Amino acid sequence: MKIGFIVGSLRKGSVSKKIAETLKGLFPAGHDLELIEIGDLPIYNEDLDNGNLALPKAYTTFRNKMKTVDAIVFVTPEYNRSVPAALKNALDVGSRPYGSSVWGGKPALVVSQSPSNLSGFGANHHLRQTLVFLDVYPLQQPEVYLANSFGLFDENGKMNNEGTLKFLQSVVDAFLVHIKRFK
Ligand SMILES: Cc1cc2nc3c(=O)[nH]c(=O)nc-3n(C[C@H](O)[C@H](O)[C@H](O)COP(=O)(O)O)c2cc1C
Repeated sequence: MKIGFIVGSLRKGSVSKKIAETLKGLFPAGHDLELIEIGDLPIYNEDLDNGNLALPKAYTTFRNKMKTVDAIVFVTPEYNRSVPAALKNALDVGSRPYGSSVWGGKPALVVSQSPSNLSGFGANHHLRQTLVFLDVYPLQQPEVYLANSFGLFDENGKMNNEGTLKFLQSVVDAFLVHIKRFK
């Protein structure tokens, strides 16, 4: 079972990335858990796929990697009430060439976060909107909106909020049940 983690933020100190690392630690042993890079994908342009421009190596690497993944965990902040462009770009790159999408039929987990009380609800649901068309099946319950996310970590980047850790463990457990439905 291979689970790919896609993080919507590219910044070095990303809290979304810390949450992804925290989630990885909550899976039982025996799962192949991999953070999948999206920051090196050039902005999608159909000419890159139709021969008018050279196909970027990063596209091929990303698409090949995603094809080996059985399930996907998305962890994202909200940018201007939607998903960050880097995440939307990765979704677009993986969806083409037409008929060769890397996404179809896979189970997913959607996690959003924000440093405020808002918790990335807009990003969470814009992402879900795109996943409908990509035929990706996000876990419906529990929904995961993490508010005040910067306060969930100690100075070493380790999540130290017991309530949130317990909640995230229940999310991972539910996600594993969800994944089994697709096997
Ligand atoms: C371009 C931009 C737009 C943002 N828009 C929102 C927003 O609509 N809602 C929100 O809660 N936070 C917004 N923020 C703040 C992000 O939630 C915050 O930067 C977040 O911690 C980034 O996640 P990261 O730590 O994983 O990089 C925005 C930040 C940026 C850079």
